[in-house]
Formats: sequence, C-alpha cells, structure tokens
Amino acid sequence: MTERGIASSLTQYEATPGVIDLAWGHPDPNLLPVRELRAAAQRAMDRHGSDILEYGSTAGSPPLIDFICQRLSETDARAPSSAQVVITSGASQGLDLAATLLLSAGDTVLVDVPTYHLAISILADHPVRLEAVASDADGIVLDDLAETVARLRHAGERPRLLYTIPTFHNPTGRKVSLERRNALVAFAAQESLLIAEDDTYRELSYDGPPPPSLWALDGAGSVVRIGSFAKSVAPGLRLGYVTASAEIATRLATGGLLDSGGGMNHFAATVLAEYAGSGDYARQVEHFRAAYRAQRDRLLAGLSAHLPDTASWSRPEGGYFVWVELPPGITADALLPVAAARGMAFLPGHRFFLDDRAAPGALRLAFSMHPAEALQEATAHLGAAVDQLRAEAG
Ligand SMILES: Cc1ncc(COP(=O)(O)O)c(C=O)c1O
Repeated sequence: MTERGIASSLTQYEATPGVIDLAWGHPDPNLLPVRELRAAAQRAMDRHGSDILEYGSTAGSPPLIDFICQRLSETDARAPSSAQVVITSGASQGLDLAATLLLSAGDTVLVDVPTYHLAISILADHPVRLEAVASDADGIVLDDLAETVARLRHAGERPRLLYTIPTFHNPTGRKVSLERRNALVAFAAQESLLIAEDDTYRELSYDGPPPPSLWALDGAGSVVRIGSFAKSVAPGLRLGYVTASAEIATRLATGGLLDSGGGMNHFAATVLAEYAGSGDYARQVEHFRAAYRAQRDRLLAGLSAHLPDTASWSRPEGGYFVWVELPPGITADALLPVAAARGMAFLPGHRFFLDDRAAPGALRLAFSMHPAEALQEATAHLGAAVDQLRAEAG
C-alpha cells in the first residue's frame, strides 16, 4: 500500500509539465463560475443568516430540492416530488449511500462494461461481488443481462443492483436508445432488480435535448437515479442528488450518516440554490455546452486528421468523453509512454472493465479540461505516437 503523504496542491489534479493530459474527466477550470458563486454565497448568507451554518434538514437543503424538482421538469420526461429527492455529496456519495443502505453483504452488483472506473472502486468498497454484463454501441446487451441474472440465481447468488450510465456514458460517450431504455426498466421491474442510473452528464447535451432518464420511464420504483452538480456547476461544491421512490428516498435520508450530520453539504447546497434561483445555473449550463461542443468538435476533427483509417472512435452527443479503438496490433498500454513523451496522455480502455485484460486496443480521451487548440495539438501527438508504433512494428 502506498502512503499518500501531505499533498502540496489544493486540487486533485496536478498538471504534468509538457503533457496535454486528456486522462482526467475534469471541467476546464477557466469555465468555472467563481464570481457568480461568490456573489451567491453572500446573498445566501444575507438571506438565511445563521440557519445556513446550522446542521441542515436531513434529506438536504429544501430550496435546492425545490430547484432540482423544477429543473428536472424541464430536462427530463418526469419530475420528482420533493419527497423523492435526497441531496448527496456528489454522484459518488449518492452511489456509495445507495450501496450502503440498499445492499446486503454477499449481494451481487452487475455493471455493464466498459463503465466509469471509479464507480467500480466505490462499489468495491462494499461487501458485494461485482459481475460484468456486456454492452454494445447501443448500451447494455439485454440478452446477456437476462442470461447473467438467470445464471447467478441458479447458482444461488443474489443479483440485486445494476449500475449503468445510459446518457452520455463515461467512458464511451454513448447514449442508449429509447427502445432499450424501456426494455431495461421493464426487465428490472419484472426481475425485482434495482437500477442505479448514473445521470451525471444529463445537462451536457450538445445536439438537442437529452433522452428521458430510466428513472422517468420506470413506473415500478426500480430505479435510483444519481445526479450531480459537478459537471453542470463545479465539482468542488461536492453536491449531487438521488431521485428514487419516496420509500427508497426515505430509507436513504434516514440512514445513520444523514441522521448524525444532517443534510449533505448544507452550506454549499443552500448557496447553490441561491445561485440557481438567480438564473446563473441555466446560464452556466449554456456556457459549458457551447464550450464543450466546440471542444468535442475540435477533438473529433483532430482524430480524423491524425489517426489512420484503421482506428475508429465514438461521436458523443454529450458528456466529456470519446472512446478510441486503435489500429489492430497496437495496445493502449504500449502507446501511452510513447504519447506522453510526445506531449499527450489518455486513460487506457482496460481501466473501465472488471478484467484488466479486456479491450487492450481501446482508450478514453476527455475533451472537457483543455481548450480547442490544445485538443487539436494533443490529437497530432497521438497520431504521431500511433505512427511511430506502427513503423516500429514494421
Ligand atoms: C459517470 C460518472 N459518475 C460520477 C462521477 C463523479 O461525480 P461527482 O463528482 O458528482 O461525485 C463522474 C465524474 O467523472 C462520472 O463520470
């Protein structure tokens, strides 16, 4: 085990000099709303006085819950009632809380791979077993899901929860079709399987409105949707939310953690509600969308210009990520040091699977953190690194 020591930086990300790092799914720091949040904090303190510094209401700051209900009535096909919402400390803690309170030791959690690698870490912190289910360009493969659930039950296991990211997926950028969304929620209801729907990227939709969430399509209370303000406002707020049936939301809000500490990040949540109420939230989301749309387009143009025809990649309609399949014979692990020496970095695709021998020829690029010119330069370095490995292979 490594010791972490005292970090010298205030932030999680530390730049590597000379490397355009597309490994991290972080926002461009230049786009973050520093001035607007400072003003909102001032207004919120003036409005609420010492109430903003007390322990907060258990399910989360009521003005923020009201805002979430109103916003989802515009961005999703169904809005929750306030009794169906719990504020969390980001999507990460929403998933952790759901795993803590809705799972039992020995349950099996299904994940359709590839999937968000750090969700795998969160789930692995719990006494559950993880099982991979296949996915294709349209999302989770339902036949494989049905076969896996049947096989596990037959073997005496308890498949209880499916973690999935149907909208602007991390790492592929993919968006699951409406048909498959409907089939998935019907299957979950029929099999008494809970779905943890990671909806972190709903607001970052670049080519039209986002699709309805699984939560909105589900009538059976099978879906726990996990949302985040990390990508629509700022990750440092550590704010997200869960929408679920009122029964599940009550269970989440009455666990020991919130009972002890009150609603999550009460100060930040109440400031965020003030910020949102002024219209700043909607403006910020538009600002992110315009910037990231341009960044995505430049990255895709750079890949077309610099990668050989034998490579392929996804064309995301939202989110932060592009998934690249390298030319046959080139592995992401072999490519990474060559690309880094030329001035760019990425995350190898196997990081997003339960089995790290999977997808050796795939990699993930994040287009969120760097301006368009840097992305273009990074694709030139990537292309040169691929060419170098192909030349060395003869
Ligand atoms: C799919 C997905 N879920 C959750 C998170 C983490 O969200 P939060 O910062 O709200 O915990 C991320 C961040 O990259 C993500 O990509």
